[in-house]
Amino acid sequence: MAEQKTLLRALAGETLATPPVWMMRQAGRYLPEYRATRAQAGDFLSLCYNPELAAEVTLQPIRKYEFDASILFADILLLPQALGADVWFVTGEGPRLSTVTSMDDFNQLKPVDEIDAVLNPIYETLKILKSELPKETTLIGFAGAPWTVATYMIAGRGTPDQGPAHALRQTDVATFDALIDLITDGTIAYLKKQIEAGAEVIKLFDSWAGSLQDVAFVKYSLNPIAKIIAALKAAHPTVPVIAFPREAGEAYKGFAKAVGADCLAIDTKVDAAWAVEHLQKDSCVQGNLDPRLLVTGGDQLVSETKRIKEAFSGGPHIFNLGHGITPDADPDNVHRMVDAIRN
Ligand code: CP3
Repeated sequence: MAEQKTLLRALAGETLATPPVWMMRQAGRYLPEYRATRAQAGDFLSLCYNPELAAEVTLQPIRKYEFDASILFADILLLPQALGADVWFVTGEGPRLSTVTSMDDFNQLKPVDEIDAVLNPIYETLKILKSELPKETTLIGFAGAPWTVATYMIAGRGTPDQGPAHALRQTDVATFDALIDLITDGTIAYLKKQIEAGAEVIKLFDSWAGSLQDVAFVKYSLNPIAKIIAALKAAHPTVPVIAFPREAGEAYKGFAKAVGADCLAIDTKVDAAWAVEHLQKDSCVQGNLDPRLLVTGGDQLVSETKRIKEAFSGGPHIFNLGHGITPDADPDNVHRMVDAIRN
């Protein structure tokens, strides 16, 4: 029965003696086998759109570490591409996109009912994974939250302070709100399809939520996420959702309840004792090991892993990092982390 899977048990609110574990970016450049498959695909985007190879890299960390969950191999910037933006990756620098900075630019984008022409291979990847994953491994689908996706679509790249997106929301609210609404509706359609193709859990990444405050945080991080979750729950009431409003700080408090999420993922800056007191009473909590420890390793990796496991042991918890594992991480350190959790 699906409910036997450890990740689904934690998401349903169960306190487990050994928390389920997986890692953000678990399929990634720190693994030599990932680098080999990516070379075979040609480049990162070709890998994302190749269902056989995308399923292969999704499975690599599952075979190696027996994680409790597997996350679809894709990217949050595939939806902008499906909506008509140009998207490419510059090696060593990161993503580049054509920009949306006016109503004219916005009007060039495609309607939501056309996104599947681009995204069909992603649903194929999920179907392959559904049949090939070990029966105890939970399959997670995902998307970026609207604010975070909008920051890339407006700036055309990653930015340290999301300046261009803040400027647009202050100077041309009509264009900005239209973009947020389009991304929100596109995300709902995309995630419903992911669930129909086999995703058992959905995660929403709001990586830049921390740069929004007060009213703007509610309007552009919390509200769109709540709208997406409400639409998913209406269609698929039993599929749990993990929300990750990264670096939201005090605004993490009450977030899971306000958006209807089953689990709140927390970054490395959140104090574990504070999270137990203010967040774990409302929902399952996921996180918050510092990914640097998977580079440096040693006794500190083991003691920090055990500290986090212990801190959250009184309630539902999914062991994970506070952000993605980095390319310079040592694959053996991941074994050390998993052993420290399970033994
Ligand atoms: O976690 C997983 O293993 C699933 C796949 C996944 C990727 N990106 C693969 C990826 C997921 C869930 C993401 C989410 C994502 N993508 C986010 C939100 C989470 C976060 O990191 O804050 C964001 C902001 C993006 C956009 C993105 N994709 C950036 C900024 C970059 C470049 C930076 C980098 O790490 O290289 C990417 C590239 C990317 N996405 C890689 C991977 C494995 C590296 C690409 C490569 O192989 O060269």
